[in-house]
Amino acid sequence: MRFAVLTSGGDAPGMNAAIRSAVKASMARGHEVLGIERGYAGLLAGDVRPLTIDDVDGISRFGGTILGTARSQVFPTEAGQREAAQIIEREGIDGLLVIGGNGSLTGAHALAQHAPCKVVGLAASIDNDVGHCHLSIGVDTAVNTIVEACDRISDTARAHRRAFVVEVMGRMCGYLAMRAGIAADADAILYRERDMAEDDMIRRLKELMIKSFSARRSKRRVLIIKSEGVAVPTHALVDRLGEAIATDLPDVAVRSTILGHVVRGGSPSATDRVMGQRLALAATWALERGAHDVMLAWEAPRGIGEATDDPAVRSVPLADVLAETKNLLDGTSAVTKRRVGLLSKVEGILAL
Ligand code: F6P
Repeated sequence: MRFAVLTSGGDAPGMNAAIRSAVKASMARGHEVLGIERGYAGLLAGDVRPLTIDDVDGISRFGGTILGTARSQVFPTEAGQREAAQIIEREGIDGLLVIGGNGSLTGAHALAQHAPCKVVGLAASIDNDVGHCHLSIGVDTAVNTIVEACDRISDTARAHRRAFVVEVMGRMCGYLAMRAGIAADADAILYRERDMAEDDMIRRLKELMIKSFSARRSKRRVLIIKSEGVAVPTHALVDRLGEAIATDLPDVAVRSTILGHVVRGGSPSATDRVMGQRLALAATWALERGAHDVMLAWEAPRGIGEATDDPAVRSVPLADVLAETKNLLDGTSAVTKRRVGLLSKVEGILAL
């Protein structure tokens, strides 16, 4: 069979491990593998090339994606979809593996409705905003990158007795802020799903800083992790906090660091490399069996999807994945409710 693989949307550490595994698993069974450059934009441009074992030798340790990625505005259009199907036909592709986040998987599902090939997806996005999978490829590395950065910021914050707001990526999902905040001993974690009014947020953070920097404590740093999905801009939050504590804490400064794309780079963790390789192996074997319009999901909730050869991987219809993704982000998902419920219960403990 002739398989093709593309990476799409925001790059995620571990994508290369998935590419490597797809190539080796396919070739081990006598299949050909094509690499599509720059996601759906490259598919529409016909940027397709055979991948060899040597192309993927030793690439799991590198962040980013050797195929490149892009966000295509044309692909979702009817004309774009028709063009993509024609190129798939022309290249004689039997199975397409799409590695990307919720936007990319939405495109995979649309293509699967009419493409002349089987289409399967893998969730790869540092945001962890894809439904029916406990983790997307890239999340573990991103969390570790944030924690390492926060440890560095905490060193200098302690030296100067400062409060720091550290903004992290995640788009509309607060998972990175939640998980990294706990790991980095944050005193407060701000995320969109908590839906906290700005004035209430200022009041709580003011109280936290006054208690933390009081003479009775020897505490010398306050770390506030903020997900980029929180409505108040970081610079405005810092300004308001500085004004709020100016009288009570005239010697304490509030500063900020926006980690931005730093969170997306770096050598993938072992977890992301193993996830990428096991998911792509499962996807290759699924395509071989004729699976279509599904995502191979890492640790899907019990009862969701079908088992595969890998106990940690289940095959879930893309329609179900996308429906649950919507619930994850609008707060109706049981997963989001559990995460917000748990974290909101411990806010007072984090602030001690
Ligand atoms: O979706 C992954 C992500 O890193 C988001 O967390 C972030 O908001 C977005 O991509 C940034 O997109 P770009 O790299 O296109 O600026």
